Amino acid sequence: MTQTMESVMVEDRQADGILAGIFASGDEAQAAAARRLAETIRGKAERGKKCVLGLATGSTAVGIYQHLIRMHREEGLSFANVTTFNLDEYYPLEPTDVQSYRRFMFERLFDHVDIDPANVHLPSGTAAVDEVTAHCAEYEAAIAAAGGLDLQLLGIGRNGHIGFNEPGAEASSRTRMVHLHPVTREDAAGDFGGINNVPATAISMGVATILSARQIVMVALGAKKAAIVRQMVDGPVTPDVPATYLHRHPNVAVFLDEPAASQLR
Ligand code: GLP
Repeated sequence: MTQTMESVMVEDRQADGILAGIFASGDEAQAAAARRLAETIRGKAERGKKCVLGLATGSTAVGIYQHLIRMHREEGLSFANVTTFNLDEYYPLEPTDVQSYRRFMFERLFDHVDIDPANVHLPSGTAAVDEVTAHCAEYEAAIAAAGGLDLQLLGIGRNGHIGFNEPGAEASSRTRMVHLHPVTREDAAGDFGGINNVPATAISMGVATILSARQIVMVALGAKKAAIVRQMVDGPVTPDVPATYLHRHPNVAVFLDEPAASQLR
């Protein structure tokens, strides 16, 4: 058991490289993930280094960011040394649209901490169609130039997607334009006021981009994630469930609440 999990974790289990920590509540799982991020940020700052974080959106991430904001206000956690790269963005979508992940990140985290906006990166929802490939290559190059991702935060889609790497995504995939899966569009329908308003495409970091992070922290909460969490933790590695690729990474922690863990063997 790692130190970050010690006080609140109900149970932990190790399956093939994936450490799953099961917490008494979603908030405790989110707090544990926030502590992991904070430890990584502080560890780098103590050595005078920049910290490069891969960040995620979605409802699960909101509570994690609330904990980070609280730690910034109450514990002096500084983001002055932090550079961020988000997993994905809908395409096409204006950065000012309410559903845009750029707007989400500023409203939910960046506006409330001392990060330099120049150090914030998200894929663009407004790149011209014929410039998307170059934009994606630049995004990958920017991650590499920053020194690679120290920690990648992930949620999981009900279909097993990580970022917007939908079923069928290849292990070698890098940042690129992707087609959104029907389940993903259904889950986003509420945000967009109907499934027909959900963009058909997005730009997402690839599976290989995610797996290149030195540390991966995934948080999955609630009974609606139980079936896919079971497939991710207990199932074989398969492109049908892109989250199973995490078995190939040496340093993955999955933080769950009890409903999300309820179908684990
Ligand atoms: C979106 C994001 C994913 C995220 C997923 C889960 O699809 N692109 O990165 O993991 O939502 O969202 P939630 O936390 O709301 O269940």
